[in-house]
Amino acid sequence: MSKDRLIIFDTTLRDGEQSPGATMDQDEKLRIARALERMRVDVIEAGFAIASQGDFRSVKAIADTVRESTICSLARAKAADIDRAAEALVGAESGRIHTFIATSPIHMQHKLRLEPDQVVEHAVAAVKHARNHMGDVEFSCEDAGRSEIDFLCRIIEAVIDAGARTINIPDTVGYAIPEQFGDTISQLLTRIPNADKAVFSVHCHNDLGLAVANSLAAVQAGARQVECTINGLGERAGNASLEEIVMAVQTRQDLFNVDTGINAREIVPTSKMVSQITGFPVQPNKAIVGANAFAHESGIHQDGVLKHRETYEIMSAEDVGWHTNRMVLGKHSGRAAFRARLDELGIVFASEAAMNEAFLRFKDLADKKHEVFDEDLQALVSDTKRAVEQERFKLVLLEATARTGETPQARIVMAIDGVEQDATATGAGPVDAAFKAIEQLADSHSTLQLYSVNAITAGTDSQGEVTVRLEKGGRIVNGHGADVDIITASAKAYLNALNHFAAGVEKAHPQALEGV
Ligand code: KIV
Ligand code: ZN
Repeated sequence: MSKDRLIIFDTTLRDGEQSPGATMDQDEKLRIARALERMRVDVIEAGFAIASQGDFRSVKAIADTVRESTICSLARAKAADIDRAAEALVGAESGRIHTFIATSPIHMQHKLRLEPDQVVEHAVAAVKHARNHMGDVEFSCEDAGRSEIDFLCRIIEAVIDAGARTINIPDTVGYAIPEQFGDTISQLLTRIPNADKAVFSVHCHNDLGLAVANSLAAVQAGARQVECTINGLGERAGNASLEEIVMAVQTRQDLFNVDTGINAREIVPTSKMVSQITGFPVQPNKAIVGANAFAHESGIHQDGVLKHRETYEIMSAEDVGWHTNRMVLGKHSGRAAFRARLDELGIVFASEAAMNEAFLRFKDLADKKHEVFDEDLQALVSDTKRAVEQERFKLVLLEATARTGETPQARIVMAIDGVEQDATATGAGPVDAAFKAIEQLADSHSTLQLYSVNAITAGTDSQGEVTVRLEKGGRIVNGHGADVDIITASAKAYLNALNHFAAGVEKAHPQALEGV
């Protein structure tokens, strides 16, 4: 008997990007969107088109490029938002407008300052307006997890009548508990007379660590779309993680009457790409995509797995993309092989000059490092992009010394607006000294909130990938840098964060905006 399709709606590029410091630029978003398309994600929420020029351009670029997935833009229940979303989606093969309004008493009263009747009116008007642009319209009841069921039934019936074809039930603040959330979905499906005219979707946040459990309970109760993100990225504690939802459904086919269209072998490469682009490392014990997810430490487990894999493994590492795309290139690889691998990874350079620069950097890396893996290429591409951009702060030279019993010291030469300047500082370690030297010249007065180093691949010749998070006046930016020398990688990351401050691109947060 054929199973229902569970629609996988990925919101890494929208809700995921709302994690503090996870801002991505257009090229990075396009790379992730292409990876999601390769993974055969059904719907990609590419952004919130009205939030900023950058968001609009990213949604548009993705809509113009990706052909196999539906491309969606978020819009508040406002005509201006909806028009902007529609404009960004004009080039999409298949586009969707996702409009939302809050439905919980606390949000309606304190955020929207609207009566429930007015909220229904706004919702219906928004859906009708969106339907004038396209047939595929999704409506979300923000904070549905804390909304009254009678009111949910009323507003959902009205928006389905107005033309919404997907109804999303977000647990915006991560308040739900699986059994109760599943029951809410069952009630909505049975009580709303026109429920059969729409696909019911869920969107769960992970504040209590229950986002995946709540989403799966909803699927068992009849939801047929799940909104999720790669690595569970998202606001605060994040969203339900795509890889966990997909693999739970695939592994427990005995319990789920649904199937996804996802190509699971793309999960690990995409997870690595998202982690590398956002600078949010994946914890080693994270299900499916953590470095230890398929590692067997104890002798008893190893013995069991060697004799018969299923003794301790419920999925195979290969099925989710571990160990695929291993060694790719080395120092004898030429330009054609380099370009071909970039093509396979969906990486496109804006200009031939950027491609040439990337190739030179690849040769340099291959000289230092025996084997160049896909993860190295992804990091190299980001680094090249940063280097060729017209940035305010550029690293020219770094010298750092650290000897046992002596105070570490760093000297930095950097170009600020094209003018080279030089500073020397001491610090607790060479990285601290390098950051102090940079700060002497940049004078940013920002505070370091996070410093993390990750090895991109295995081995001591791995590139270190550094994330630096800076805060200034309530504004948070992330910076990334990669290099086989982690002090250089750290300096690059610090400068990248300073450049993000200098670029000063502010964007609106969809749920924090006033009114509807
Ligand atoms: O969490 C939420 O409520 C959202 C909506 C905008 C869908 O992200
Ligand atoms: Zn959300």
